Amino acid sequence: MNDDLRALWAGIWDGLVSGVAQGDHPFHLGVLATSTPDGVRQRTVVLRGADADAWRLRCHTDARAAKVAEIGADPRVGWLFYDADRRVQLRVDGRAVVRTAGDDVDDAWRTTPLLSRRAYLGDAPADPRADPATGLPHPLTTREPTEAESEQGRERFAIVDVRVEAIDWLSIRFSGHLRARFTRDDDGIDATWLTP
Ligand SMILES: Cc1cc2nc3c(=O)[nH]c(=O)nc-3n(C[C@H](O)[C@H](O)[C@H](O)COP(=O)(O)O)c2cc1C
Repeated sequence: MNDDLRALWAGIWDGLVSGVAQGDHPFHLGVLATSTPDGVRQRTVVLRGADADAWRLRCHTDARAAKVAEIGADPRVGWLFYDADRRVQLRVDGRAVVRTAGDDVDDAWRTTPLLSRRAYLGDAPADPRADPATGLPHPLTTREPTEAESEQGRERFAIVDVRVEAIDWLSIRFSGHLRARFTRDDDGIDATWLTP
C-alpha cells in the first residue's frame, strides 16, 4: 500500500473512531444492512465501537430484534456511512456476530446510560398493535428507569460485532470524485484507487 492509501486508510478509521465518541459526528449514525431470503433489510444504528487493528465495528441492539435472527441465518452485512460536510461515503462489507454474554457485553451494558437501557425494558419489537404503542411499561414513558429496574433489560442487551472485510471510500469533489477500495486479504490489506 502506498503512502497516499495508507494515510487515507488511517483517516477513515480516525473518522470511525470519532463517530463512536462524538454524538454529533456524521459517522455516529450509519445504516446497517442485512441479507435475508426476502431481500436486503436496512436500519439506522448508532456506531458504538471502531477498532482499526481488529477491523471491527460495533453496535448495540435488542436480542429480540429481527436483525439478530437475520444475522444468525446469514452473517454478511453492509454498513453505510455518509459525512455530508466532507461529502465522503463509506461502504463497509463485513460479517457480523451477535453476543449477549461475555465480559465486553457486560462492560458495554455497565456504561449504557439508564435512559438508553430503557429501550430494552419494553415489549418485543415489531408486535402489531391496534393503537400507537411504545411497548414500555407505563411509568417508564415519563422517566428513565432506576438502576434496579434497568437490570431487567440486561438479558436482552446484545452487541453486534462486524468483522470488516472491505471498505469502499468515495469522495465527492468539484475537481472530480475519488474512490478507493480496501480489502482484507491473507497478507493484510489489499488497497487500490478506483475510478469513481
Ligand atoms: C437515530 C436512530 C438510531 C438508532 N439506533 C439503533 C441502534 O443503535 N441499535 C438498534 O438496534 N436500533 C437502532 N435504531 C432502530 C433501528 O433503526 C430499527 O428500527 C430497529 O433496530 C429494528 O430493526 P430490525 O427490526 O431490523 O432489527 C435506531 C433508529 C434511529 C432512527
